[in-house]
Amino acid sequence: MERTLLIIKPGAVQRGLIGQIITRLENRGLKLVAMKMAQLDKDILKVHYAHLVEKPFYPTLEASMMAAPVILTAWEGVQAVSVVREMAGATEGKKAVPGTLRGDFCMSHQENVVHTSDSLETAEKELARFFKPEDFFDYPSPLLYYLYSTDEL
Ligand code: TYD
Repeated sequence: MERTLLIIKPGAVQRGLIGQIITRLENRGLKLVAMKMAQLDKDILKVHYAHLVEKPFYPTLEASMMAAPVILTAWEGVQAVSVVREMAGATEGKKAVPGTLRGDFCMSHQENVVHTSDSLETAEKELARFFKPEDFFDYPSPLLYYLYSTDEL
């Protein structure tokens, strides 16, 4: 089983989309294993978006990510990293395919409602960045064998 990070961005928190976003992942069959509300700061964002710090849009990205609290969520499932990434859709919301979170909930490149980890390696780093080991819950999933065939597990 993989674990991945999905951040509900400040704009989506303000727009009242938390429940709808979480419901989409629950409906897909992903298991929520950690969740908290947090106010991000400049230091953590410089690490999280280290690949973008030199970009001209970084100041507005930073301001947008600090404009209100975020919801940090960790999801578990078979191939959870790529499944959640594909559910998010293209970074540029106007080009995101309908049916994806961005394709259904946004019209912007920057105000694009969610962050998702882009690889298993990144997911491990990002989860450790935002959660402590004790924040994760390892509870049984009675529906596991209805969500997957045994040879997928
Ligand atoms: P990035 O890590 O490239 O995309 P993703 O969130 O899909 O993994 O970029 C991080 C965020 O930076 C992105 O969600 C929105 C913002 N951004 C812009 O505002 N303009 C841009 O041209 C890019 C590439 C990103």
